Amino acid sequence: MFANPIIIANWKCNPVSPKEARHLFETVKKELRLIKNAEVVISPPFVWLSLLVSQNNSLRKSLGKLKNPTRQTELKLAGQDCHWENSGPYTGQISPLMLKNLGCEYVLIGHSERRKHFQETDEIINKKLKAVLKAWLKPVLCVGEETREASDSNGQPGDEMSLVVGQQIEKGLNGISSTRVADITIAYEPVWAIGTGNACPSDEAMKAGLFIKKTLTKLYTRSIAERVRIIYGGSVNSRNAADYVKGANMNGLLVGGASLDASEFVRIIKNVADR
Ligand code: PGA
Repeated sequence: MFANPIIIANWKCNPVSPKEARHLFETVKKELRLIKNAEVVISPPFVWLSLLVSQNNSLRKSLGKLKNPTRQTELKLAGQDCHWENSGPYTGQISPLMLKNLGCEYVLIGHSERRKHFQETDEIINKKLKAVLKAWLKPVLCVGEETREASDSNGQPGDEMSLVVGQQIEKGLNGISSTRVADITIAYEPVWAIGTGNACPSDEAMKAGLFIKKTLTKLYTRSIAERVRIIYGGSVNSRNAADYVKGANMNGLLVGGASLDASEFVRIIKNVADR
């Protein structure tokens, strides 16, 4: 159904200077020249977006002049969050329309760090998702349980993942029509795996992916559920990336820490793209 995996770099609150942001972006862009079958998205801090849009345009021109320009993979841009209104008296906020007008294609919504440090509830996330869809941007809805499922006395896994993820999806997608839900990508990011080096075993990620599909089927229909991309995030690196995309049937990856190292990020992309 989805031809190419999507790999999204979540730079979070890094790097701290425009020079470093440009350097990281340019290194990734140049290395991508030989990769064809992947959709690659960079989600930098808001303040570097505009800079990277212009850099992307000028690099596209200069790389296009090379001998083999057709093998160039586009680098797309994403916001890390946004407000639910397009403009108005909301000091400090960035709106979906601003991101759209700047040239972003995606926006991360409901990342666990936003839920935890900025008290974002499922209701707020639902408002943001609707605003993003209204601006014709593509939201990446992040979901995931805080603690790892403990096994019960019979060695069977508990139901922490399904309880938390089920609720985050049902409340997050409340009121979102079946005609628009396929524009949303769902990122399964167990909080215990984020930034810990303790990545989720791929069979557990696969189980979560199937559960998300089942939840979407319950809320919409099976054929609509099949059209929603489900990706994995949490301590992804070049050694485990293929386990999720090729082994666990994930449609892509959301990469945090490893995306700040250009060579490692490019290795991740190479390991999941069929060249
Ligand atoms: P990580 O972060 O790859 O550093 O674990 C992933 C994320 O928070 O999106």
